[in-house]
Amino acid sequence: MDHFLYRNGELMAEDVPLRQIADEVGTPVYIYSSATLLRHFQLFDDALSPMPHLVCFAMKSLSNVAVLKLLGDAGAGMDVVSEGEYRRARAAGVPGERIVFSGVGKTRSEMRTALTGGIRQFNVESEPEMVVLDEVARSLGVVAPITVRVNPDVDAKTHAKISTGKKEDKFGIPISRAREVYAAAAKLSGLKIVGIDVHIGSQLTELAPFEAAYTKVAELTEALRADGHEITRLDLGGGLGIPYTRSNEAPPLPTEYGALIQQTLGHLGCEIEIEPGRLISGNAGVLLSRVIYNKSGEGRDFLIIDGAMNDLIRPAMYDAHHDIIPVIEPAPGIEPRPYDIVGPICESGDTFAKQRNMPPVADGGLIAFRSAGAYGAVMSSEYNSRLMVPEVLVQGDQFAVIRPRPTYDEMISRDKVPSWL
Ligand code: LLP
Repeated sequence: MDHFLYRNGELMAEDVPLRQIADEVGTPVYIYSSATLLRHFQLFDDALSPMPHLVCFAMKSLSNVAVLKLLGDAGAGMDVVSEGEYRRARAAGVPGERIVFSGVGKTRSEMRTALTGGIRQFNVESEPEMVVLDEVARSLGVVAPITVRVNPDVDAKTHAKISTGKKEDKFGIPISRAREVYAAAAKLSGLKIVGIDVHIGSQLTELAPFEAAYTKVAELTEALRADGHEITRLDLGGGLGIPYTRSNEAPPLPTEYGALIQQTLGHLGCEIEIEPGRLISGNAGVLLSRVIYNKSGEGRDFLIIDGAMNDLIRPAMYDAHHDIIPVIEPAPGIEPRPYDIVGPICESGDTFAKQRNMPPVADGGLIAFRSAGAYGAVMSSEYNSRLMVPEVLVQGDQFAVIRPRPTYDEMISRDKVPSWL
């Protein structure tokens, strides 16, 4: 459920008409609903309530500092994968003890920043990383809390580009070698083992792969404890999928996911961490765009809009589907027609949907891409020297620009022409 609904014939974000935001901020623009973000965070927090737990928002899905502050103030932790994300989380007021540091290629400088600024744990992904983290921690005179990310060799049954838990993927260490790697970690005085980490992929629409992975983690917890390690925390990653189409998708709910965690791991008495991104932010955001031209091709009608693949790359990159709806509610009896919905960028990949049935929208009309809160703005760019897309946060009947659209001068003045040219 989200808070983007038609009221009095037009699409609202909570109590704000999208039309009003388009008029005041311009298009394209991302719009987020605070109530939806908080509700989705709360669903996870409630689902895990029988166990000690921390919900760490995977901020790679949506990293605007205002959104992080909203979730952080509600008690969320953060899953970060770079120094930039760590600094954003801290700028949003999230304390270090609620931040976990994931990622396959952490640098020394990232490790130093997190160790000096405060960190809950590093999810270590390889033996060389372990050795470097130990060195960095000792050089600072501190001890780094770690989990080791294990790769359980489970097929997440999702898009190949976002599957991470098969043995051929670059992530984690093979679970078959975990005991050996933990034994090596235990010898490093700059590290303190606190648990195990696993993350098998994103946009999972079934529970079975989670169940397979978490069952392996339960067995590993017992084996590592028998080896004398203190395993008090299990970080189970993110990945629970969302419905991208309203009609026929029903991925598992956070309550069912919570029950599965309880059932597979509850007996171990560990603190549970999860790292959901998409399920918290995905349906909490829309990309609002304006139709520039209706163009009739040979046997095809195109809607050419002012949003483009630089603003929302998911359709071009993953063939992802986003529902696209008109901001003015179509009158009853209006027949949808097939359109190719495309941006103005000079490549055919700049296509959001082909032969999508849509009610007609006139030139100048507004449309909204649903489910665009996750991996939308964060993956945007200035390709074709288009201005970075702005972001707006709505709360009830108020809204604020949380990242303004830069001016052309601002964009151009970032380039520096050398004196010898
Ligand atoms: N934890 C780790 C270690 C991850 O790598 C990810 C996502 C998550 C948590 C959050 O997963 P989520 O709950 O959001 O599924 N750009 C792609 C998605 C990439 C996901 C990468 N890792 C897309 O637009 O679909």
